[in-house]
Amino acid sequence: MKQTIIFNKELIKRYNLYGPRYTSYPPANRFDEQFGIKDYCQVVTDSNEYLLPKPLSLYIHLPFCNTVCFYCACNKVVTANRNRARPYLDDLHKEINLQGPMFDKDRPVNQLHWGGGTPTFISHEQITSLMNVIKSNFTLLDDDSGDYSIEIDPREIKEETISLLRNIGFNRISIGVQDFNPNVQKAVNREQTYEKTLNVFNEARKHGFHSINVDLIYGLPKQSARTFCNTISKIVEMNPDRIAIYNYAHLPDLFKTQRQINEDELPGPNEKLEILGESIESLKDAGYIYIGMDHFAKPDDELAIAQRKGNLHRNFQGYSTNANCDVIGFGVTAISKIGNSYSQNIRTLEGYHKALEKNNIPVMRGYKLTDDDELRREVITQLICHFQIDFHEIEDLFKIDFKEYFSKELQILKDMEKDELVKVNDNNIEVLPTGRFLIRNICSAFDVFLNRDDNVRNFSKMI
Ligand SMILES: C[S@@+](CC[C@H](N)C(=O)[O-])C[C@H]1O[C@@H](n2cnc3c(N)ncnc32)[C@H](O)[C@@H]1O
Ligand code: SF4
Repeated sequence: MKQTIIFNKELIKRYNLYGPRYTSYPPANRFDEQFGIKDYCQVVTDSNEYLLPKPLSLYIHLPFCNTVCFYCACNKVVTANRNRARPYLDDLHKEINLQGPMFDKDRPVNQLHWGGGTPTFISHEQITSLMNVIKSNFTLLDDDSGDYSIEIDPREIKEETISLLRNIGFNRISIGVQDFNPNVQKAVNREQTYEKTLNVFNEARKHGFHSINVDLIYGLPKQSARTFCNTISKIVEMNPDRIAIYNYAHLPDLFKTQRQINEDELPGPNEKLEILGESIESLKDAGYIYIGMDHFAKPDDELAIAQRKGNLHRNFQGYSTNANCDVIGFGVTAISKIGNSYSQNIRTLEGYHKALEKNNIPVMRGYKLTDDDELRREVITQLICHFQIDFHEIEDLFKIDFKEYFSKELQILKDMEKDELVKVNDNNIEVLPTGRFLIRNICSAFDVFLNRDDNVRNFSKMI
């Protein structure tokens, strides 16, 4: 498979609609309270009894941040008081201790991710004891072959923290940068020097982390194509293995702190497209490959290799090479994906505490996929990960006739075919280089919920 893209401004403008990012299908706004603790326990029991039980992927949510970045849309609790983490960590330990015995010990943890908020808000002691609780409840791989990653905010980290993280088993880090320009940093209340960031890179390399990812955001206030390209070239010099360039999702009705952003300072739609187009060109020139949906990687990175081999996957943590895992999410707001179900934990620290005080699994809502949902999830995942879908493969898996089952969807794709975003052949759909940047739009043709919904504005714009 050729991993090329064509950036066509006119088409991108025309297709720039609201839509989900498909880290799950159906998206989380379809989960409901009918799915509770009992259902969760049942799907876990069932998942242990499969002929070939799936390996596990653990997600640990650490919501605290010392200061707030105005643009932030993450699930976080902003506080300068480090003591606030203590009771939360007690609850988190309790949750892990409750859930650990529910899963068979012969299910290895192939993937582990600590996200936030800012996971390194907590002390060295707290980091170590959290990892120990995880290790005593689950079977972590002890040969450094797992995908064990953590999100790092360079403003929040000491040199010794990096070596500690490596020593306790992490082998990947994801570094939040967003933008190096001082005016942009001021406008979003995130002042982070180039030197500090470089220092994290150097330390991570020194301690043998397998892979470094960097997060950037385009569309922030005071950004221009010229200033953002400056940031990109500084990042390229640092030589990360993966780069994520997220589109700034400005939803001030949902995220209060975004109201502190001066909307007059946001780049307009044309400037935003300019920023994106030039960023893509710079990354292509620097040898990065477009994996899909905001993500770039070096050609020899595992993600790029998996995409070429056809075994890339996507879950709440983004793209992954671990296709077959059941995902267990720990902590407030964390989402699990077990068998044919999704479930989400309680959102507030208080509610989470109350549930655990009663020794309850803190599940708040969830969703059990129907056969139709599972089929559509597979089609959407294949398109997002591999930019193509093979009809026979889907027909064998789901015992359907693809063209008959999806006749309406194939009709929707006709306009996209005219615009050369996709090509529908006798036995497959190919996403063409011009369509790769519009993959969310192409997937949305197969999303029965999006078209039924009157609340698409809960989603960010595609670009
Ligand atoms: C939990 S944060 C990363 C860890 C750490 N707290 C930090 O900021 O460095 C995850 C990432 O989400 C992205 N992000 C947050 N808010 C966003 C928004 N409104 N639109 C797009 N991306 C956003 C940022 O790139 C950020 O690095
Ligand atoms: S971007 Fe990171 S540090 Fe900033 S508020 Fe969000 S989670 Fe916290």
